[in-house]
Amino acid sequence: MDNENKIITVTSPLLPSLEDLNKYLVDIWDNKWITNNGSYHKALEEALCDYLKVPYISLFTNGTLPLITSLQALRITGEVITTPYSFVATTHSLWWNGIKPVFVDIDPDSGNIDPNRIEAAITPQTTAIMPVHVYGRPCRTKEIQDIADKYGLKVIYDAAHAFGVEVNGRSILTEGDVSTLSFHATKVYNTIEGGALVMHDEKMKQRIDYLKNFGFANETEVVAPGINSKMDEIRSAYGLLNLKQVDDAIKDRQRVAIRYQEALRSISGISFWEDIPNVKHNYSYFPIFVNASEYGMTRDELYFKMKSHNVWGRRYFYPLISTFSTYRGLDSANRDNLPNAYHLADTVICLPMHHELTDNDIQRVIDVIIK
Ligand SMILES: Cc1ncc(COP(=O)(O)O)c(C=O)c1O
Repeated sequence: MDNENKIITVTSPLLPSLEDLNKYLVDIWDNKWITNNGSYHKALEEALCDYLKVPYISLFTNGTLPLITSLQALRITGEVITTPYSFVATTHSLWWNGIKPVFVDIDPDSGNIDPNRIEAAITPQTTAIMPVHVYGRPCRTKEIQDIADKYGLKVIYDAAHAFGVEVNGRSILTEGDVSTLSFHATKVYNTIEGGALVMHDEKMKQRIDYLKNFGFANETEVVAPGINSKMDEIRSAYGLLNLKQVDDAIKDRQRVAIRYQEALRSISGISFWEDIPNVKHNYSYFPIFVNASEYGMTRDELYFKMKSHNVWGRRYFYPLISTFSTYRGLDSANRDNLPNAYHLADTVICLPMHHELTDNDIQRVIDVIIK
């Protein structure tokens, strides 16, 4: 296929050099220690604490299991207030723990849970809030924490999109009781599959480390009904290599975001969120919102037009989690309760966004929207 028609995918994985990876593989083969808290696992936890400016981190085999495990660790039960505008794993983690999700509408200016609507959803069964930093844009953490403190609730942030995001020079991952990360192939920073839990203290780190290894505290003692969600040595080594190049990848994403922003700012019927001045963004996604009457085309019409030009966007997050069969019967899943979430889900397209987009690729994306 010639260059002009090549498919522009919505994302592309950041891959370490094969030569560098091979050196680590040879070492791992020599050591014959391939999982269970080996030296690469330890080194990656240390390197991530430094990079992310967080005190403690525990690596996981994906970004869903730290959500499930943290709910166990914090002994969350009953009802948890959360957002329908996320990837389905957020709500599934509650369901897997026998917890009832209570959906609260979002702030249309960020896509994140609207703190002004949380208090009305609290009942005697509520034990926690699970917000998501959607697209890596920070939640209104102070307001959420104030509500949590007032009602004695825990806060578990799904920070799957928020790798490296800082507010006023401070990691967003230090908010709440714990934060979870996903290192899936599609993310800014990936270990192919992988994830992590960020916590404030050593005691929680130890509890999580036990829980992710079947609950083993030592050779003979099992202290809790744990699970197996350990990251292996190969993916830890891969992760160490990717960490060295993630800053460059984020700079490349920023270059793409600036081009999109400049080109689309004046297009009637297309809107997007500008950067926030005191936030270090990671440019993990570039969502645009289509106003059909002003733009002259619906979101779906634009989405399929892009596809016909081999420009693959993604309607992310559409459909809302609250519409899936498991959840649609919940009172809080009612459409009338979630007008802003429905509006965003029905108008959003995430544009191609990754470190390898060329100027020509970016122009093709812009042209298909403008022309
Ligand atoms: C918001 C959100 N939460 C959780 C997850 C689950 O992460 P993983 O795919 O690594 O299990 C994802 C990723 O896909 C996500 O986008």
